[in-house]
Amino acid sequence: MPFSVLVIDSGIGGLSVVQAIRKISPALSVTYLADNGGFPYGALSIGSLTSRIDLLISNLTTEINFDAVVLACNTASTAVLSALRQRYAFPIIGVVPPVKTAGEISVSRQIALLATEGTSGRGYIDDLAQTFAADCQIFRVPCPDLAQQAELKATGQEVDVSLLRSNLSVVSSDEWAKIDTIILGCTHYPFIKEELEGIVGPDKVWLDPALPVARHLIATLAQKETASIEQRSANENAIYFTATISPDAVFKAFLEKIGFSCIRQLEDFVA
Ligand code: DGL
Repeated sequence: MPFSVLVIDSGIGGLSVVQAIRKISPALSVTYLADNGGFPYGALSIGSLTSRIDLLISNLTTEINFDAVVLACNTASTAVLSALRQRYAFPIIGVVPPVKTAGEISVSRQIALLATEGTSGRGYIDDLAQTFAADCQIFRVPCPDLAQQAELKATGQEVDVSLLRSNLSVVSSDEWAKIDTIILGCTHYPFIKEELEGIVGPDKVWLDPALPVARHLIATLAQKETASIEQRSANENAIYFTATISPDAVFKAFLEKIGFSCIRQLEDFVA
C-alpha cells in the first residue's frame, strides 16, 4: 500500500510541488485540494487563513486517512503552520521561501523575494532574513497579480506581461541588474517563470522550493513504518475544488499532465 498525502493550496500553485513529488516518488498517492473559493490567499488575514485551512484539513481528513499533509502555499505556511501542527497528529509539511539557500549561494548578496503581499509582509520573513541572510540585501517584491496570472495561464489564457512588469517595478532596473538570486516565494510562480525571466533578464539563479519540499516529504514518510491503510477511499489521486469550476479542455489537459484526471467538488464546504 503506497503512502497517501494531501496537498493543499488556494489554486493551481501547489501543483508545482506535486510535480516535484511525482518526479521523485511516482507511486505516492496524492490528493490535491485547490481552495479556489478562498483564492487569493495573499489577501486574507492570518485569522481567516487559520480557520479556513483548519476547516479544510479536518473536512478531508475525516474522509480519507492521510499519512501527511503538505501545505503547498507560502502565504499559508508562513502564517498558520505552527498553529495547525499543534492540532493534528499527522505530519504537516509547509512551503516557505528558501531564504536560507539564497543566503548560502548569492555572490552579489543582492536577493529578490517574489511573493504575495501577505507573505512579503510577514514577521516570518524578517526572522528568516535575520537568521540566514543578515549580510544580504533582500528586496521584497509584493506581487498582488502574479498568482492570478499563473491561474489564467493554466486555463490557456494569455499572460499579461505588462501586469507582471508593473508588479516587479518596485525594484529599479539598476537594482535588478545587481540581484543575482531570485526566490520564487509563491508556489504559483514556477508556472510563469519563463515570463518573469523575460522581464528581469538572464543570468539569475531562480530558487523554487518544490524539490527540497518533496524530498523532505519523502524523508518524513520514510520514518513511518507503514502507510495508514484504514479509511482509504476511491477518491485518492483526485483534485478537489472548493468553488464550482467548469474546466475547459486546456485546463483538463493541464491537470491530467500532473496526474489528476478525477476532478471533484468539495461538497458543502462553507468557510
Ligand atoms: N500559492 C500561494 C503561495 O504559495 C498563494 C497564492 C494566493 O495568493 O492565493 O503563496
